Amino acid sequence: MSILVTGGTGFIGSHTVVEFLERGEDIVIVDNFCNSKPVVLDRIERITGRRPKFYEVDLCDAEGLERVFAENPELESCIHFAGLKAVGESTQKPLLYYRNNFLSTLTLCETMARHGVKRIVFSSSATVYGDPERVPIRETDRLGQTTNPYGETKQVIERILSDVVKADPAWSVSLLRYFNPVGAHKSGLIGEDPKGIPNNLFPYVTQVAEGRRPFLHVYGNDYNTHDGTGVRDYIHVVDLARAHLKALDRARTVTGVEVFNIGTGVGYSVLDVVKAFETATGKKIPYVIDPRRPGDIDACYADPAKALSILGWQAEYDLTDMCRDANRWQSMNPNGYDGADA
Ligand code: WQD
Repeated sequence: MSILVTGGTGFIGSHTVVEFLERGEDIVIVDNFCNSKPVVLDRIERITGRRPKFYEVDLCDAEGLERVFAENPELESCIHFAGLKAVGESTQKPLLYYRNNFLSTLTLCETMARHGVKRIVFSSSATVYGDPERVPIRETDRLGQTTNPYGETKQVIERILSDVVKADPAWSVSLLRYFNPVGAHKSGLIGEDPKGIPNNLFPYVTQVAEGRRPFLHVYGNDYNTHDGTGVRDYIHVVDLARAHLKALDRARTVTGVEVFNIGTGVGYSVLDVVKAFETATGKKIPYVIDPRRPGDIDACYADPAKALSILGWQAEYDLTDMCRDANRWQSMNPNGYDGADA
């Protein structure tokens, strides 16, 4: 039996593959390297001593995907990470985002169904809540108006997968709504490697710490939060990876659709993160206060109680661990995977 991992060389995918391999499961990765590099496979092998089977295939390529399933009849489940995920870019290139994220997911599900594989764990996002009606957010809270095509694709794919279950109750669908994944594997061998100027807070902070950028831009200090800066639920990527193991274990025993918030339940502000990073690493993070970033909200953090009660999962790492591990990855790989050796 083996598990298909789409987007398995990406940031969250690679950490999840490591956890599955270390548990002794067999993995087949499909990735088109649109936002990742082949060296990630070497790094996964260095960490785990095992090399996952790999196909460089675009999920929108139905024939290519058909070949993956035909050559791996032992596939029994899929963890679906692959997708375009840059919020800003999605507003510039909506058609690209809708085409890619929808077509890849539809092609994947059609191919799975044809091969009798009806179990999928999907990477959704807290972005589906829009501006939340309250915090901490529960899974049953209303889904909000999304503010960008990326978020829209997450909401619609959740509905598509739910409709698949309605039509064929033999499917098992687990929708994991990630909060803000950060940090890196403790080996420092895999981590987040954004292209160009990082959009997200953590990679920006680690690049400032490395001297690649002079200071952090803090987007707004007039939010309705304890210090005026935006509050988010940062979660260590290894905790997040482990949630997939628990979600798949559960999906192996039940059918239907289930949705889980995957966060720590604790919200930290931008300035909390800056302070925690400085304390954890001894490095100074100079910053300036800039205007708000359009579309940002005051606070977003999870009520993760459902994941604990049903999956038996909860986050184990704290903000200090996230800062220390993100910093280790960036220090060991100042240019990410660019020019990196195995
Ligand atoms: C966190 C906080 C910023 C950068 C986004 C997507 C979401 C997602 C994760 C995608 C906010 C502030 C940031 C900086 C700053 N999933 N900030 N300076 O906005 O919660 O979520 O990324 O794959 O869908 O919306 O995360 O890390 O961008 O921002 O002050 O340089 O840090 O304003 O308060 P966000 P983030």
